[in-house]
Amino acid sequence: MRENIKVLLSEEEVSAKIQEIAAQINKDYEGKQIHMICVLKGGVFFACELAKRLTVPVSFDFMSVSSYGDDTKSSGVVRIVKDLDQPLEGKDVLVVEDIIDSGRTLSYLLKVLTDRNPKSLHLCTLLDKPERRVVDVDVDYSCFNIPDEFVVGFGLDYAQKYRNLPYIGVVEFLED
Ligand code: IMP
Ligand code: MG
Repeated sequence: MRENIKVLLSEEEVSAKIQEIAAQINKDYEGKQIHMICVLKGGVFFACELAKRLTVPVSFDFMSVSSYGDDTKSSGVVRIVKDLDQPLEGKDVLVVEDIIDSGRTLSYLLKVLTDRNPKSLHLCTLLDKPERRVVDVDVDYSCFNIPDEFVVGFGLDYAQKYRNLPYIGVVEFLED
């Protein structure tokens, strides 16, 4: 089977939307410092693009949780692969994710982070597939709602490929 990537959201569209969300976050966090938690690996591209557009002070930490194998289906199992380096106590935490699908990963992660007593905890995602939600998650900032299709690019992968695409595309599987 061959894979073809069809553009869903162009680089320009994504960039303009990130600028818009960043402006909103700058307003909401005026006078505060954001402690940005980037969820590896997919969240990295979005976190960098977002952070470059923030004018409030930002510190960073990284976490890696795994709920997917090298496939397009969730295993339903969430596991912390890499934990944060710093405590969250008293910090205004903003979790940055690539995509919310079933909501399992984020719902688990938000519970774990809440127990560490941050001053505030909010969630920002590049993409959201609301139709696919199995577990409820409060999303504070979302750039795009997308249909139930498997997407790649801007940090998102299919079998570890395509993360580096500067746009969001849908994977089409073609018979040879
Ligand atoms: P959830 O726990 O089902 O919400 O899954 C969240 C994680 O699944 C994301 O952080 C992605 O790593 C992965 N994922 C979900 N949908 C897609 C997709 O369309 N393309 C690539 N990865 C996805
Ligand atoms: Mg992710």
